[in-house]
Amino acid sequence: MRGALAVAVYPEKTGCVMLESMVIREATAADWAAIWPILSEVGAAGETLTWDPGTTEAWACAGWMRELPGRTIVAVDDDGSVVGSANTHPNHPGPGAHVANAGFVVHPARRREGIGLALGRYVLEQARADGYRAMQFNAVVETNTPAIRLWRTLGFEVLATVPEAFRHPADGYVGLHVMHRTL
Ligand SMILES: CC(C)(COP(=O)(O)OP(=O)(O)OC[C@H]1O[C@@H](n2cnc3c(N)ncnc32)[C@H](O)[C@@H]1OP(=O)(O)O)[C@@H](O)C(=O)NCCC(=O)NCCS
Repeated sequence: MRGALAVAVYPEKTGCVMLESMVIREATAADWAAIWPILSEVGAAGETLTWDPGTTEAWACAGWMRELPGRTIVAVDDDGSVVGSANTHPNHPGPGAHVANAGFVVHPARRREGIGLALGRYVLEQARADGYRAMQFNAVVETNTPAIRLWRTLGFEVLATVPEAFRHPADGYVGLHVMHRTL
């Protein structure tokens, strides 16, 4: 469990928190079986991720389970279950590789417990340690208030919004924010 962090989750902030602690650690290949149901459910909802409905498990696995210089991490509950995951990788190759990109997903039944915040803090700290100079999110759906609030809390700002770049199942064509922070 090299690099694992014990993370306190604060019950008083949520009112309904069951877990007292969790561990964030680098994912292993064995974790994919628990990540896939979370990722595919969130992706299929079509509200927050640029996810093709025809995405196969193999394709999703190749995209999510990153190898160095990319990384994939999981948040693991105190009963051993994976409750969230994130990955990082260079946003562009070569001369653009000093800017990191990251993806995040938290189990829909485990939202608003501080898991996303803990994953975000871990990812930022790791990205700094890996030598990235900045982190950029390319496609934050402008109706995704939970994510936008979380990224602002973590120091990101909206650089630009690509108009009508995302087809939301309920809201129609909405913008995609490019969000950025230096590290
Ligand atoms: C975005 C996401 C990762 C947040 O995970 P989470 O574990 O629920 O977030 P946290 O509990 O750590 O919340 C941290 C902060 O984010 C914001 N936030 C989270 N959920 C929110 C909600 N439903 N409404 C408003 N703000 C919210 C708040 O600022 C919150 O802090 P607070 O509880 O002190 O107000 C999660 O909602 C998710 O997986 N969404 C689907 C996938 C996705 O959007 N990925 C990111 C794409 S850019």
